[in-house]
Amino acid sequence: MRIVIVYGSLTWNNQIMAERIEECIKVNYPQVSEIKLVEWFEVEPTILKEYDFSFVGSSTWGDWDPCDVMVQFIDDIPATNLSGIKTAVFCNGSRSFEQFCKVWDTLNETLSDAGAQIIWEIIKVDWEIDESFDEIDTWTKSIMKEIL
Ligand SMILES: Cc1cc2nc3c(=O)[nH]c(=O)nc-3n(C[C@H](O)[C@H](O)[C@H](O)COP(=O)(O)O)c2cc1C
Repeated sequence: MRIVIVYGSLTWNNQIMAERIEECIKVNYPQVSEIKLVEWFEVEPTILKEYDFSFVGSSTWGDWDPCDVMVQFIDDIPATNLSGIKTAVFCNGSRSFEQFCKVWDTLNETLSDAGAQIIWEIIKVDWEIDESFDEIDTWTKSIMKEIL
């Protein structure tokens, strides 16, 4: 089993979330032979086809805006055939904003429309990521139980 985690972060919070997911898998699932952590701007959506499972995530900037390092990646998804890939979306934002992490429901739809199979519901975490480590671990383990 090979897994990729693709994240987008401007002030490191989504990166911390991505690293927590990675750590949870490394500690608990030795049967995962490879886990790759990569930022959105470094890759294209086709990378999702190279792995057995992908976690895709980002922080939220503006009511309907993804973290700007992700914009090109998201724009490229509809032109990419993602049928057969399995994925789950993780995001972070701040509950002080009216549209808490709202944009990422759209990402789920964009991925589905391109043929991706959404394995688990999206996780949305407030800006103090370390206070949500238990929630992130539980979410990650639920997904691993589903895909292994
Ligand atoms: C200008 C600005 C706009 C933001 N807009 C939203 C928003 O619409 N919804 C939300 O949930 N969080 C919003 N946030 C909160 C960020 O997503 C939050 O600070 C997050 O921790 C940043 O994560 P990052 O360090 O991984 O980029 C906004 C933050 C800033 C500074």
